Amino acid sequence: MPELDDRTALVTGAAKRLGRAIAEALASEGADIVVHYRSSGEEAEAAAERLRQKGVAAWTVQADLADATEARGLLGRATELAGRPLDILVNSASIFTPSHVLGFDEEELRRQFAVNTLAPLYLSRAFAEGARRGQIINMLDARMLECDDGHAAYHLSKRALFTLTRMLALELAPATRVNAVAPGLILPPPGQDESYLEALADTVPLKRHGSADDIARAVLFLATSDFVTGQVIYVDGGRHMEGRMYGS
Ligand SMILES: NC(=O)c1ccc[n+]([C@@H]2O[C@H](COP(=O)([O-])OP(=O)(O)OC[C@H]3O[C@@H](n4cnc5c(N)ncnc54)[C@H](OP(=O)(O)O)[C@@H]3O)[C@@H](O)[C@H]2O)c1
Repeated sequence: MPELDDRTALVTGAAKRLGRAIAEALASEGADIVVHYRSSGEEAEAAAERLRQKGVAAWTVQADLADATEARGLLGRATELAGRPLDILVNSASIFTPSHVLGFDEEELRRQFAVNTLAPLYLSRAFAEGARRGQIINMLDARMLECDDGHAAYHLSKRALFTLTRMLALELAPATRVNAVAPGLILPPPGQDESYLEALADTVPLKRHGSADDIARAVLFLATSDFVTGQVIYVDGGRHMEGRMYGS
């Protein structure tokens, strides 16, 4: 019997890359999926079709999470599409732009926080109102334990999401579990290729990069582990213990 049969999940940023892999993993355990996207409409439709071929129901929904009104409205729209309250929320959509602490302006910080921190907060609040027993999984970044001086605004936004994960885990217990996965070196940033990962593989204790499947499996573990909340799983080949500076 699939472990997530009769559950419905909203996965943000699920048209491609890690979000899509997470959606597929949840679907492989029987969950119906609302595939959120911002600009990748065609990829989102294709991803939803692949999910349907696995035998689950799937819908697509568009929203720009940099816009607070759209972010606040997304949960309701997803619930309407699914026709019942959602059981699982995965906050995977993110922006990852280079910036230095002495260089970024307020607008850059605001944009990173809007998508990476505030949208998960608004979605979580709406989710907690509707969920009977549910769970939230936030996508962090293993680099948040260091000073990522090459992505300063992004780093701050993920650190805040880390703290928010723990605050919400306490605040929303016992009805809703809140956990996180912190990926390390997994996929090259959009626009970069495999050589980006190969150049950094030596900084990872396990001397290689991970795969989308590694991340999806960690999400699935959290999604099916009923006594786990407030937890962060680092899926990074041990990189978070190194204490080296990224981006320098
Ligand atoms: N990839 C890695 O190796 C890695 C490492 C560490 C942490 N992570 C974290 O893991 C998660 C998934 O990683 P990823 O590499 O799959 O992410 P990604 O490709 O950088 O972004 C995922 C999706 O976020 C959506 N997005 C961006 N801006 C948005 C906005 N304003 N409104 C709504 N959606 C927006 C985009 O959707 P559209 O394409 O539809 O516009 C994009 O496809 C992220 O939270 C990331 O920070 C990933």
